[in-house]
Amino acid sequence: DTININNRGAFILFEGCDKAGKSTQAKKLFEYLKNNGHSVELWKFPDRKTTIGQIINGYLANDKELDDKAIHLLFSANRWECMKDMKNLLLSGTTLIVDRYAYSGVSYSVAKGLDLDWCCLPDRGLLSPDIVFFMDLTAEAAEKRGGFGEERYEKKSLQEKVRKIFYMLKEKDNDSDSLWKILNANQSVEMLHKRIVESSLKLIEKCHQLPLKDDLWK
Ligand code: TMP
Ligand code: MG
Repeated sequence: DTININNRGAFILFEGCDKAGKSTQAKKLFEYLKNNGHSVELWKFPDRKTTIGQIINGYLANDKELDDKAIHLLFSANRWECMKDMKNLLLSGTTLIVDRYAYSGVSYSVAKGLDLDWCCLPDRGLLSPDIVFFMDLTAEAAEKRGGFGEERYEKKSLQEKVRKIFYMLKEKDNDSDSLWKILNANQSVEMLHKRIVESSLKLIEKCHQLPLKDDLWK
């Protein structure tokens, strides 16, 4: 399913383990682009504001217990409920910066023991990102960062598994070396920001001419 359109926005995704600095970099990129005249929005998954998102929030805060498969499907549904709005924004020329997506969805569930193919299926056919900035940080380094351990998945052994599965998912993508930008998250915020801005500006230019695809993992 390819939608042909000119001058669409770019779908810029940040992925990585907890405490890798995704939200910090996503916000800095958003501010940079906004201040330089781009039409841009910042999105984050899980989107905890929707009805589904509130259940997810309760689960992550350890207030609520849910079957591993049930919560996996809720994370996926939380993306699907946003697809129409995301698609319309991209087609209208707005660049979307997205903080976590289906790669997180699969990595955390597989790290808990679910089957990889089973986990990918519900997200199959979502909009595909134009770039994946993978903020790479070891679990040892993450553990030392402020706030680690507050939510359900913030445990060193789980994060180590999650990191490996992110790399497996990278290999699964077509043309993964141009789609994925692996960034060492153990650098200064400003150094990372500079690299991310450079790649993003080039990408935004390129996306004006590219069709938008809803073919994730197809
Ligand atoms: P956050 O820290 O970025 O708000 O994400 C909350 C947690 O939810 C984080 O540990 C990663 C996890 N997660 C999933 O397990 N599945 C998903 O689909 C997403 C988006 C996040
Ligand atoms: Mg977190």
